[in-house]
Amino acid sequence: MKKLILLCTTLFYLSSHAQNALNIPPSLTGGSFTLTLDEGTTQFYSGVTTNTMGANGSLLGPTLIMDKGSNVSITVDNQLADTTTIHWHGLHVSPENDGGPHTVILPNTTWYPSFTVLDKAGTYWYHPHLHMKTNLHVSKGIAGMILVRDTEEAGLNLPMTYGVDEFPLVLQTKGFDATGQIEVETNLDTSVMVNGTVDAYVDFPAQVVRLRVLNGSSQRVMEIGFSDNRNFSLIGTDGGLLAAPVTLNRYTIAPGQRADILLDLTSDLGNNIQLMSYGSEIPSGYYGAAQPGMGPGATSSLVNYTSNPLNGGDYQLLDITVVAQTGSPVTSIPSTLATFTPLTEGSEQATRSLTFTASGAMNNLNGPFLINGLSMDLNVINYTIPLDNIEIWSLTNQTPIAHPFHIHDVQFFILDIGGTPPPPELQGYNDVVLVPAGMTTVRFIAQFNDHENDTLPYMYHCHMLPHEDMGMMGQFIVTSNPANINENEVSEEFLVYPNPSNNGSFQINSAVLANGYSVYTSEGKLIKDVSFNDPTSSFELIIQNEGVYILEMRSIDSVLRKMIVVQF
Ligand code: C2O
Ligand code: CU
Ligand code: CU
Repeated sequence: MKKLILLCTTLFYLSSHAQNALNIPPSLTGGSFTLTLDEGTTQFYSGVTTNTMGANGSLLGPTLIMDKGSNVSITVDNQLADTTTIHWHGLHVSPENDGGPHTVILPNTTWYPSFTVLDKAGTYWYHPHLHMKTNLHVSKGIAGMILVRDTEEAGLNLPMTYGVDEFPLVLQTKGFDATGQIEVETNLDTSVMVNGTVDAYVDFPAQVVRLRVLNGSSQRVMEIGFSDNRNFSLIGTDGGLLAAPVTLNRYTIAPGQRADILLDLTSDLGNNIQLMSYGSEIPSGYYGAAQPGMGPGATSSLVNYTSNPLNGGDYQLLDITVVAQTGSPVTSIPSTLATFTPLTEGSEQATRSLTFTASGAMNNLNGPFLINGLSMDLNVINYTIPLDNIEIWSLTNQTPIAHPFHIHDVQFFILDIGGTPPPPELQGYNDVVLVPAGMTTVRFIAQFNDHENDTLPYMYHCHMLPHEDMGMMGQFIVTSNPANINENEVSEEFLVYPNPSNNGSFQINSAVLANGYSVYTSEGKLIKDVSFNDPTSSFELIIQNEGVYILEMRSIDSVLRKMIVVQF
């Protein structure tokens, strides 16, 4: 089976005639949304049934269209056989509504986040975020787009008819095993798909069309462009429209990033062009280049990396045929877009330095990777940020591979990359920045306003999902009482230490007397049920196998649950 897929991959380099109509996820609008997460099957390749996960279907999820300023309430019903979370990537929401790793949704339970949409018109997305299982749940298929509209955008003459002149494009690569199942722990992500469609074709009208592009891959950086090298206009990045369109013929898009693109097809009726990724142009040091590593570790390699034909290769994402115009087409590109004032250096109240290193050998390309020498610890608050602080974060990459760094809660402005101010296309709102290998430093500035919570943290992490799952993540609290925060302990009613545990042993200390406890696997299976003859506020728990578990603690008047992780 793997041979067959590799053969197909090779074949479509030679033929530009794609075979499957591009899937356009349905859109949902209004103020209340329901997402039902479930398992299902998908035929990526005809005759091959692949087990997948999706929201309101068996793969991916609907596009949620929200208006800035509106109040939104969402029902997330978890019908998976696994615990998960759903995170609204890029949206400026409170920690309780953010869907990070602490906000677990057990199987057969429902989560009801609600928030006011504070973000500018832009391209956001949602995906699971359970610690150590983000890659599994995203690779199996759960991800969807969020489009925010606002009045500023409505005043521009932009294509805004979803599925007609505005198209979501979720770019992903995945690996398949010999039986046609999605392989998660692999660098053999040889299958290219757009909106879950392998070898996709689409008809676009001969006018200005808008592409809402998301790189939803677990690891792969893409260098997008069109087969005839035509120019396109980048009008927006992660968190909003740029000040003016930027004319480009290539754009580097890393995992987690979005690009809002206008493509002028007004004089292309009948033409056939391909959206490509030019992997051959990606410099060494990026996942997707011929050489994923650079610098002191240039000789090291990633397992299976060189046997993946997409690495350093040019490959087709989408086969586009230009057809007749729609009624009232947009036929021109505005010369100016959004008005905003970027935060500038000098306005900051704090600067934080984050250094990325590889654990073990310096030339280790396979991870785990650390931030300031630390791996994700669910009990530790790495930073306490005073509400409203303006901060500069300085990210230095001492590993031989580039990492797309993402932070929750805020959109930031990039100050410099390797000491150089960002090019025009990176001067807007971003929530992911690719930090190149080779001791490069990237600095951004952001304001942490509107939301605070003394106990529930936000995350920052690498958006290469295996790196994130292996611990390249940290936590911060935004609060107006920074003095109250004990950075070494998330101040919940009970503490589990250490978490993750690397030997299966946990120490539990509780503010209330526990009568007993139960431990469930993340799939909801009971594996331990203990009652104490004498209620206690401190005990040890031992779990033999690696995994993600739910510890449920019972006291006289409460039941408290917490996710605990065994990672040998
Ligand atoms: Cu797109 Cu913390 O995630
Ligand atoms: Cu996020
Ligand atoms: Cu990384």
